[in-house]
Amino acid sequence: MKKAIVVGASSGIGHQLAVLLAANNYKVGITGRRDQLLLNLQSTNPAHFIVSVFDATDVAGIPQYLNQLTKELGGLDLLVLSSGTGKINEVLDGRIEQDTNALNVAGFTEIADWAFKFFQEQAFGHFVGITSIAGLRGSGQAPAYFASKAYQISYLEGLRQKAKHTKLPIYITDIRPGFVDTAMAGGENLFWVAPVEKAAAQIYKAIEDKKNVAYVTRRWRLIGFLFWILPGFIHKRL
Ligand SMILES: NC(=O)c1ccc[n+]([C@@H]2O[C@H](COP(=O)([O-])OP(=O)(O)OC[C@H]3O[C@@H](n4cnc5c(N)ncnc54)[C@H](OP(=O)(O)O)[C@@H]3O)[C@@H](O)[C@H]2O)c1
Repeated sequence: MKKAIVVGASSGIGHQLAVLLAANNYKVGITGRRDQLLLNLQSTNPAHFIVSVFDATDVAGIPQYLNQLTKELGGLDLLVLSSGTGKINEVLDGRIEQDTNALNVAGFTEIADWAFKFFQEQAFGHFVGITSIAGLRGSGQAPAYFASKAYQISYLEGLRQKAKHTKLPIYITDIRPGFVDTAMAGGENLFWVAPVEKAAAQIYKAIEDKKNVAYVTRRWRLIGFLFWILPGFIHKRL
């Protein structure tokens, strides 16, 4: 049985992906802060889930949590990092910006580095980061969120280059969702909002195919491209 960890499996995309991995015969370590949600998920399929409750901003504690969970799983083939936070912050509330950076930048880096080093040590493995279309340009509505997703995209690209240099079968996948129907995707003016089941199915396929980058759902690739080529003088008026 293959072994996976999904960081941020208590709700949303991570939760649905964990369900799918278990249904496809993975043993899955599920993490998050909301222990009851994780225990509820575990109770649906106890043989396939192991719970580990930790805050992904606790950078000092992360290696220990991940080492312990990997030991309980009996190995690790795949680590998916879905934990993330993002809030509209028109007034530049410093707390919101710093909380976003703490999870999406500092926590992300610690977990990504732990995974890369672990996979390098065992000479194989697959790390998947759930980034966002938001990482392609800046936004005045949520500056830290968009910037943190740009950081994640660039970081994953860097790790992919490192993985290539190892000449080992280590894969780095960047999943870029558009809108997915989860707690995070609140607000108005949303369009092409994908059901979380559909998003998870496409993410699972991208993992199986060991994609470098995948847009979820697939048609968001077009928005990503338009967003990316949008001239700066138009972008700053949005
Ligand atoms: N939904 C969308 O439209 C959309 C679009 C683009 C990208 N994304 C990305 O997809 C990822 C998953 O988001 P989602 O839509 O599934 O939202 P969600 O349902 O709110 O899930 C967020 C997950 O992150 C975890 N998390 C938040 N803060 C954490 C912390 N400090 N420590 C550990 N875990 C923490 C939550 O677990 P606990 O609260 O239990 O800790 C939860 O499992 C995020 O990275 C998000 O940026 C989502």
